[in-house]
Amino acid sequence: MKRLTVPAIRNRKGKEPLVMLTAYTVRMAQLLDPHCDILLVGDSLGQVIYGFPSTLQVTLDLMSAHGAAVVRGSYHSVVVIDMPFGSYEASPEQAFASASRLLAETGAAAVKMEGGAAMAPTVAFLSERGIPVMGHVGLTPQAVNALGGYGARGKTNAEHDKIIGDARAIDQAGAFAIVAEGIMEPLARTLTGEVSCPVIGIGASAQCDGQVLVTEDMLGLFERTARFVKKYDDMAGRISAAVETYAGEVRSRTFPGPEQTYLPKD
Ligand code: KIV
Ligand code: NA
Repeated sequence: MKRLTVPAIRNRKGKEPLVMLTAYTVRMAQLLDPHCDILLVGDSLGQVIYGFPSTLQVTLDLMSAHGAAVVRGSYHSVVVIDMPFGSYEASPEQAFASASRLLAETGAAAVKMEGGAAMAPTVAFLSERGIPVMGHVGLTPQAVNALGGYGARGKTNAEHDKIIGDARAIDQAGAFAIVAEGIMEPLARTLTGEVSCPVIGIGASAQCDGQVLVTEDMLGLFERTARFVKKYDDMAGRISAAVETYAGEVRSRTFPGPEQTYLPKD
């Protein structure tokens, strides 16, 4: 199977829904890749992998190392890497330097950046210079200090109009897709209809052109539970049970047994 391309993702608007999940490591990428269209190396790895209090502590070095692992573990999905906080907001030139470094070091096809109308010139700058950009509007976790929390967006008319304007600006600037996070269903429906590129929702209803979740969330591996997360497994429970069994067998000297032991043939 040949790897999907960014134009192929863009052309999926109004067709088959896009399937996207986060991946941070090679083994997880290998397991998700056959089932997904897009693997996102999300800066959510700051919380999920490193235990940071937010995504603000994530660096380009971390995104580069995890991005390279995910590219090595996949051959089908388009790999998109999050631009970490502080690596792109200052200017289009700063964003180009950071994004080109990420693509060169990892082999990923595209970057994702948070923000609306204010980031549109940067989205255009990169898109026109060969770096495909995925946008991210609505609840933008890197702006947690400005937003005052992780609550759903678009509850007031002003917020609704602002988010529509943000998505339109990013779309017109050339984004090949937009993540819409934590928004009310009516806003998600309007937004998806307003822009020419696919809208991929997370906590944004079934009205989008695709869906994304943090893999550790949907597998029941990470303790945080937002309302929009559906748990498809209880991996935390299954890991605890397996480790409890192992610990018991070590303490009772029933592991290792004969099958796991190198015995002389004599
Ligand atoms: O960092 C991340 O995982 C994301 C997704 C939730 C869209 O940005
Ligand atoms: Na992110």
